[in-house]
Amino acid sequence: MSESIINRQWVVAEHPTKELEEKHFGYKESSVRPLQEGEVLLKTHYLNIAPVMRMYMMKDGGGYSSEKLLSIGDVIHGRGVAEIIDSRHSDYQVGEYVHGQVGWQTYKISSMTDQEKFVKMTPRKLPVHYGLSALGMTGYSAYCGFFHRGYPHPDDTVLVSGAAGGVGSLVVQMAKTIGCKKIVGIAGGKVKCDLVKELGAHDVIDYKQEDVAERLSQTLAEGYDVFFDNVGGEIMDNSLLYMRAGARVVQCGAISEYLREGQFIPQNVIQVRKKAASLNGFFVYRHRHQYKEAEDRIASWIGEGVIKPLVDIEIGFERMPHALMGLYSGNNIGKKMVQVAQTETIY
Ligand SMILES: NC(=O)c1ccc[n+]([C@@H]2O[C@H](COP(=O)([O-])OP(=O)(O)OC[C@H]3O[C@@H](n4cnc5c(N)ncnc54)[C@H](OP(=O)(O)O)[C@@H]3O)[C@@H](O)[C@H]2O)c1
Repeated sequence: MSESIINRQWVVAEHPTKELEEKHFGYKESSVRPLQEGEVLLKTHYLNIAPVMRMYMMKDGGGYSSEKLLSIGDVIHGRGVAEIIDSRHSDYQVGEYVHGQVGWQTYKISSMTDQEKFVKMTPRKLPVHYGLSALGMTGYSAYCGFFHRGYPHPDDTVLVSGAAGGVGSLVVQMAKTIGCKKIVGIAGGKVKCDLVKELGAHDVIDYKQEDVAERLSQTLAEGYDVFFDNVGGEIMDNSLLYMRAGARVVQCGAISEYLREGQFIPQNVIQVRKKAASLNGFFVYRHRHQYKEAEDRIASWIGEGVIKPLVDIEIGFERMPHALMGLYSGNNIGKKMVQVAQTETIY
């Protein structure tokens, strides 16, 4: 069946050193070859758009080592939700859906290696794109980071940066779901801040319009117990001043540092010792053993209507570079992704 299929791919045309530009992306088409024993043919339905992708495209991987370094002409790394449309692999059947390392392409022949980190999706009669948001790595990051690195209690005050983003918007809703006493979000712009309040935050700091240090000192005068940080940089450093004794800081991401020349040196880390707090690094791929727990709990919260995955879907494979370039200026609300298939699928 595969010979008549044309695969469309976005590849690295030039390695970026600073901001991404159109010249960094190249486009290719080729026919799909027949499958060999042990392989499957994947049809891409949705592709993820994530801050880490600019680093994947850099010559040295931006110091990020878990994926293979990309050379000029290589397909850009990226997770996707894909349907198995042909299989010569005994563990995968036609009609099943997976999320994993599909790459920026419309089809992929895969031997389903560990390196590609595929996860079989459980049929739940939900939009299949949840495999890139609440029921995939974004949800696993929010759940495992918050519960297994932040150790929240209902009495806690919780601070979340990047609160209108894919991971952040889920953490805010999870904190609300378990009844955290006070939830404070940080996001950019009035529209996003209003939305974060609707999701359950008691207060939201607009870091683009307000003085973050001053607002933190007002709204968190009594401190926080958990800080889920998606942005790093000055926002993270300022926030370290408001830890309560025994607070837990989850370092999930540092998007504000990704484009910076040189390393950001925080000034307030001494507070960690003074407050007997914990600075907990987080890497989602170290939590594989908790993915099922995360997925089952999030799916049941979605079913109860207490968690609503916030997704921002751009339509058309040709939009991939545009969608990624916009992420760094915050043009997304919720989990950014691109719909590659013609129609939305329920699985
Ligand atoms: N550790 C892990 O295993 C792991 C796994 C998944 C994701 N992550 C990290 O978690 C973070 C969130 O990922 P996501 O996929 O959910 O992305 P996201 O939050 O949906 O998108 C990125 C958001 O970051 C904000 N932003 C951009 N530049 C900023 C700046 N200079 N200062 C403050 N905020 C800025 C923008 O929102 P505003 O408009 O509000 O600025 C933008 O919408 C990222 O840092 C990502 O790298 C880590």
